[in-house]
Amino acid sequence: MRLTLGRLLLLAAGGLVLAALVVWSGVFRIAASSGHWEITDWLLHTAMRRSVSTWSMGIEVPPLDDPALVHRGAGHFASSCAPCHGGPGTPPSAVAQRMTPHPPGLADRIDEWEPEELFWIVMHGVKFTGMPAWPAQGRDDEVWPMVAFLLELPRLDAERYRMLAFGEASGADADAIAGLGADTARQCVRCHGQDGAGRGNGAFPILTGQSEAYLLASLQAYATGARRSGFMRPMAELLSPAEMRAFARHFAEATPRAARRDDEPSTDPETLRRGEAIVTRGVPSEGIPPCASCHAADGERRYPVYPLLAGQHAGYIVDQLGAFRKGVRGGTPFAHIMATIAERLTDRQMRDAAVYLASLSPDDGLRR
Ligand code: HEC
Ligand code: HEC
Ligand code: HEC
Repeated sequence: MRLTLGRLLLLAAGGLVLAALVVWSGVFRIAASSGHWEITDWLLHTAMRRSVSTWSMGIEVPPLDDPALVHRGAGHFASSCAPCHGGPGTPPSAVAQRMTPHPPGLADRIDEWEPEELFWIVMHGVKFTGMPAWPAQGRDDEVWPMVAFLLELPRLDAERYRMLAFGEASGADADAIAGLGADTARQCVRCHGQDGAGRGNGAFPILTGQSEAYLLASLQAYATGARRSGFMRPMAELLSPAEMRAFARHFAEATPRAARRDDEPSTDPETLRRGEAIVTRGVPSEGIPPCASCHAADGERRYPVYPLLAGQHAGYIVDQLGAFRKGVRGGTPFAHIMATIAERLTDRQMRDAAVYLASLSPDDGLRR
C-alpha cells in the first residue's frame, strides 16, 4: 500500500480519536500516590533542564558576594521554600513529601546549576510540578538574593542556617510588640529586628522612626499586591487591620539608632557632593525635583505618607529606585509620583543620591 498524503492524514486523525477516547474513558491513572514511571520522570526532568538552560541564556549575573544578599534570601527561604524543600537540619513537611514529583532537597542539587539558571527557576517556577513562580514578577532585585542564598546552601550547617534565617529573634522578646500576636511579631522581628533597625547589615530596610502613616499604607499596599514584593506580600497577608496599625505605631515610635550605617559602601567625597546636589537642589534641567522637598523630616507633617530616607541603607534605596523606574514596584496611592521621578534618574544619579541619603544621621533627618 502506498502512503499517500490522504492516508497519512487519516492515520493521524485516527490516532487523535484514540487518544481522545483514552482521556475520556478515564483509564489513565493521575494518582500522585503511585509516583511517576522512571521513563516519565526522566522525560520530565530532561525537558525541564533543557528548557531552563535555553531560557536562561543571556541573563546577566550581578555581583552576588555581598553577605547582606545571602541574609535577605535566607529569611525568605525559611518561611517560603523550606516547607517544601526542607533546609539544613529542617525536614520538609510531610504533605510536601506526598507531592509528585516531590520537591527535592536542594543542598546537593545546587552545584548542578549555573546562577542564571537558578534565577530563571526561582523567577518563573516549573509547570506541572508545584514549583511556584516568584509572586512579584519583574522584581529581579528580590530574586537575586534568593540565588545568592542558594549558592551558599550546600555549605551551610544547621546552626549557621538557623542564625541566618532567624537570628537571635527566635526568643521570647518578640512578645514585646504591643497589640501583635506573639507568632506574628516573631515573624517580623526575625528580619527587621526588635527595633526595626534590621539585622546589622543592609539586608532589610530600616523601619525605625519611619513615618507611621507610610508604614501603615505600605503594609496595606503589600497585602493587596498594589506594592509588589515576593518577600513582604506573604507577611502582610498575615496581619489583621488592627495588627497593621499596632505594628506601624511600634516602629514609628522606636528610637532611631545611629549604629545603622555599618554597611554603607562609599564615603567618597565626590560621590557625596554629587548626591547632596541632587537631594537638596534636584536637577532642574532634567525635570528632577529636589528629593528633600518631599522626603525631609520637616515635610512629614505636610505629607504624612511620604517616607523618611535619611540614614536608610544605600543598597535598599538603589533597589527601590530601580524597581520604580522599571515600573514593577507599585506602592501606596502616591507611588506614581515617585515612579515618574525615578524614570528620569540615571544609574549614577541613583547611586549618588542613595549614598548621600544613607550618610545622613536619621536623628537630625533631612531638612529642606
Ligand atoms: C509547593 C512546593 C514548593 C515550594 C513552596 C517551592 N518549591 Fe522549588 N520545587 C518544587 C518541586 C516539586 C520541584 C521539582 C521540579 C522538577 O522536578 O522539575 C522544585 C524544584 C526547585 C529547584 C530545582 C531543583 C532541581 O535540581 O531540580 C530549585 C532551585 C527550587 N525548586 C528552588 C525553590 C526556592 C528558592 C523556593 C522558594 C522561593 C521554592 N523552590 C519553593 C516545589 C516547591
Ligand atoms: C523574610 C524577611 C522578612 C520578614 C519575615 C518580614 N519582612 Fe518586612 N521587609 C523585608 C524586605 C526584604 C523588605 C523590602 C521589600 C521591598 O522591596 O518592597 C521589607 C519591607 C517592609 C516594609 C516597607 C519598608 C519601606 O521602607 O518601604 C514594611 C513596613 C515591613 N517590611 C513590615 C514588616 C512586617 C510588619 C512584618 C511581619 C508581619 C515583616 N515586615 C516581616 C523582609 C521581611
Ligand atoms: C514630589 C514628591 C517626591 C519627590 C520630589 C521625591 N520623592 Fe521619593 N517618594 C515619594 C513618595 C510619595 C514615595 C512613596 C511611594 C510609595 O511607596 O507609595 C516615595 C518613595 C521613595 C523611595 C522608597 C522608600 C522606601 O522606603 O521604600 C525612595 C528610595 C525615594 N522615594 C527616593 C527619592 C529620591 C532619591 C528622590 C530625589 C531624586 C525622590 N525620592 C524625590 C515622593 C517624592
